[in-house]
Amino acid sequence: MTKSFGEGDTRIPVLKGVDLDVALGEVLLLVGPSGSGKTTLLSVIAGILESDEGEVKILGESILELSGSEKTRFRRDHLGFIFQQYHLLPTLTAVENAAVPLLIRGVPKQEAFAQAEAILGSMGMGGRLAALPSRLSGGEQQRVAIARALVGDPQLLLCDEPTANLDGETGHRIVQQLHDIGKQPDRGVIIVTHDTRIFEFGDRIVHMEDGRVDQIQQGQEEPV
Ligand SMILES: Nc1ncnc2c1ncn2[C@@H]1O[C@H](COP(=O)(O)OP(=O)(O)O)[C@@H](O)[C@H]1O
Ligand SMILES: [Mg+2]
Repeated sequence: MTKSFGEGDTRIPVLKGVDLDVALGEVLLLVGPSGSGKTTLLSVIAGILESDEGEVKILGESILELSGSEKTRFRRDHLGFIFQQYHLLPTLTAVENAAVPLLIRGVPKQEAFAQAEAILGSMGMGGRLAALPSRLSGGEQQRVAIARALVGDPQLLLCDEPTANLDGETGHRIVQQLHDIGKQPDRGVIIVTHDTRIFEFGDRIVHMEDGRVDQIQQGQEEPV
């Protein structure tokens, strides 16, 4: 696929022909310098941005051919997205933020909060459930954003720098959690990261460079 930003003479190509498959049961890491197009690629996969050319197929569905409301429904039912900027709702507590995807699906409040609480608890956030985002540290906000992505049990999980604000130990534990999700036979996980400490969790490591896939490395290998 290709993707540019801007118009006419100032048009800047950002994705210059990316062709990528993610298998079910796979954890794919997407790495590369800042500005190489990683976030743009995730956003196109999620149907948040449209590509100029090319298609995105997830679970047999061509995302770019769906109408706006079909896309929203597809995202709601099948995708989890951890944004680089967390996009937490400032007036909702941690547990309420994490429960949003379930509430949107019509899950009763008590049940939605119970599930959100369980996931936050598994991330060491059990003591911060009632805190508003403004009262949380960066790492805590990041964990709420991750809990929100996981709570709906998505088949494809898209994660943009999920460990950027976490200490080594917490980051390791959370990526282990993301990895365990991706290894289920009907799931897939894509993680954008700079964090070389988590490379061991990838089945494949896709190196992006200037809008292209530069190299694909099998997990556990030393970088070439
Ligand atoms: N909405 C936008 N409008 C214009 N340029 C953008 C926009 N989003 C990203 N870009 C540009 O596209 C390039 C790739 O950005 P991005 O996908 O965020 O890279 P990465 O996530 O790898 O750091 C950068 O040069 C960035 O400035
Ligand atoms: Mg980015």
